[in-house]
Amino acid sequence: MKIISVVGARPNFMKIAPLHRAFKNHGKINSIIVHTGQHYDEKMSDIFFNQLELPKPDYYLGIGGGTHTYQKANVMLKFEEIINKEKPDIVLVVGDVNATAACSIVAVKAGIKTVHVEAGLRSGDREMPEEVNRIITDSICNGLFVTEQSGMINLAKEGVPDEKVFFVGNVMIDSLVHFREKAKTSPILSNLSVAKKEYILMTMHRPSNVDNEEGLQKILQIIKNAAAQKTVIFPIHPRTKNNYTKLNLYTKLESIENLILLEPQGYLEFLHLMDNACLIITDSGGIQEETTFLQVPCLTFRDSTERPVTVTLGTNQLLANLDPIIVNERMTDILNGNTKQGVIPPLWDGQTAERIANILYTNFYKN
Ligand code: UD1
Repeated sequence: MKIISVVGARPNFMKIAPLHRAFKNHGKINSIIVHTGQHYDEKMSDIFFNQLELPKPDYYLGIGGGTHTYQKANVMLKFEEIINKEKPDIVLVVGDVNATAACSIVAVKAGIKTVHVEAGLRSGDREMPEEVNRIITDSICNGLFVTEQSGMINLAKEGVPDEKVFFVGNVMIDSLVHFREKAKTSPILSNLSVAKKEYILMTMHRPSNVDNEEGLQKILQIIKNAAAQKTVIFPIHPRTKNNYTKLNLYTKLESIENLILLEPQGYLEFLHLMDNACLIITDSGGIQEETTFLQVPCLTFRDSTERPVTVTLGTNQLLANLDPIIVNERMTDILNGNTKQGVIPPLWDGQTAERIANILYTNFYKN
């Protein structure tokens, strides 16, 4: 059975790594990786392939930057050539980035069985580019692999037949479980001279937060307030850095005392930073889940989440509107030990990729 797995952007790499490993171990699966190149920097891409023990992609399309339309249209043209050449039995896409939607359209149109890992998640906010990608992908794929109960409910509401849907758990947590011990050997904390549980870790890159001056100014104030209480470590995403620089605000950010600004970090370094933070502030999708698994308090700067289990069962709390006063109150509360006790959601056990490999071989392949 030949499977083409697609990756495009940073949050895809840790999802494909355990799947590729499970496909190799299965013995009857030929696993091919296509990287569309949406994320292309060494720090946004190559380091993940190395650390996650992924082989060099079989195909690298080199389509990074540009508008979402430019990315999708060019990915579709090149991916079609690969499909025609390789004639895979299955195309597998993960998550909600542009490559996910673009490649699923091409594969389904070519009559190839196409499956989506991390299906059914919905924020209910169609202004998020990822929400549109999720809806397009789920509405056309032949197999949908779901991480949490809300995904099952959403797909049922959208009229997806039960036989297409499989509740399997979370492949991103497979990577976390697999690499957690190795990440403990990372020297990042001693290199930064920061003690365990003595810092706040921050990431911020959603267009709704960082593509406007008001948002960027509010984030500056939030960081100042946070850094007045604890060291803040902030590996800054290229989108966010570009926007601060364009508005001549980057020097203001750099000058905040007790703030450690870093380049995007590798998987192992970032996992070690998450595992030992006293609080994580983010607007990422995946980090909400990773902090829930690690049982580290997380404040997410968004109005809604497509991953509600991180709020109902996990350690995540949503905060809308980037209000520095409200954020500061909530942060102080957590730093004073008033934290939310979470539990780990069902099937987030490190075995999801094996489940998916077995289902694909049994249900989607005819000898
Ligand atoms: C993308 C995903 C988002 C994911 C995020 C994680 C979509 C719609 N969005 O958003 O779901 O949470 O990745 O990082 O697919 N850039 C670089 N170097 C890189 C990659 C990007 O400088 O290696 C620059 C781009 O040129 C662009 C900006 O960063 O100016 C944003 O990149 P883009 O891929 O458009 O979206 P992300 O915000 O990264």
